[in-house]
Amino acid sequence: MPSSVEYDSEARSFDCAPTLTDSQVLEFCRDGHLLLEGVVPDEINQKCCDYLDGKAPLNPVMMPPGLTLDDLERIRSSHEPSAILLEEWFIEHVLLNPQLAGALRSLLGANVGLPVITSHHLAECPMPAQGWHQDADHIFGPELNFLEVFYFPQDTPAGMGPTEVFPGTHIGPNKRDFEEQGVLLEGPAGTIGIHHQSILHRRGVSTSTGRRRMLKYNYWRSAPPQRDWIVEDDFDFHTAYYGGHRTAIFVAHMFYWLCGRDDDYRVIGGQAWPWRTPQQVFPSMGYNAKEGYRPDWRRTGPDTFTL
Ligand SMILES: [Fe+2]
Repeated sequence: MPSSVEYDSEARSFDCAPTLTDSQVLEFCRDGHLLLEGVVPDEINQKCCDYLDGKAPLNPVMMPPGLTLDDLERIRSSHEPSAILLEEWFIEHVLLNPQLAGALRSLLGANVGLPVITSHHLAECPMPAQGWHQDADHIFGPELNFLEVFYFPQDTPAGMGPTEVFPGTHIGPNKRDFEEQGVLLEGPAGTIGIHHQSILHRRGVSTSTGRRRMLKYNYWRSAPPQRDWIVEDDFDFHTAYYGGHRTAIFVAHMFYWLCGRDDDYRVIGGQAWPWRTPQQVFPSMGYNAKEGYRPDWRRTGPDTFTL
C-alpha cells in the first residue's frame, strides 16, 4: 500500500507510489478487472449510504464554476449524484483510497485524473439480472486511457446482485446468453472494483432483500504510458502468459502499449509468440519480430491481423 497519496485539488488529480507488479498489470490486461474487498472504512460507507438516501446535508469543499448549491441539491438527488465528488470525506476515503490509488497509479501512470461524474446504480433487491452488455462508446484497442471504478457502500454478497463480469471480454466483440454466468465481483461494505470499460458485464441477479447502492465513475490517464509500476527482476516478456489463440496477441499488445512499447510490437501468427502452451519444450518462436503484423482490433479482415 502506498504510504501517502498526493492530492492536487487544483488539477483534480493524484499521484502516489504504484502497488501493482509486472505480473499483476499483465493479469489485468488478461482479465480486464480487479477487486479490492472492504477497503473503505465502515464509518465512510455509512455516511455514503446516508448521503445517497438524502439523509445527510451537502457540504461541498468548493463550488465548481457556474454551479450553485441548488444545482448541487438537484444533482445529488438524481441518478447521477456527482455532487458527492465534492464532499471532503468522499474525496479522502473513497476517491483517494490508498489501495485503489496504488492500483490506478500502476495502470494509468502518474497524476491520475479524478472523476467528473458519478452514476448511482440503485437496485431494490430482489431483482432479476441485467442482460450482458458492453457500455456505450466502448473502444476495442490496446490503449488504457481511463478506467471504470465502482464502489459498494453496503455489504454486497452474491444475493445482493453485485456486478458480474466475463473476464477477458474487453479485447473484442463478445456476446453471452442471459443464462451464462460470469464472475461475481462481490464483497463486504467498502469494496471497490476496477474494470476495463469495454468488458462484458451486468448487474447480477439478487435474491436477498434490501437496497443495493453502487457508485460508478471513471479515472483518467494524463501521462504517456511507461513501465513505471513495480518491475519484477525475473519477469520475462518472452515466456510470460498472455492467453490463448485469438486472445494472446491482443493482451500482449495492451501490455506493450502500457509499457510504452507500442511501436515495437509485431507478431507473426500461428503458434508463435505471444501464444504459448505449458507443454512446449522451448520458448515460442517469433519473439521480438522486427517485421510482422499487428492485431486487428477492428476485425476488418479475414483474420485477426493487420499490417
Ligand atoms: Fe453497464
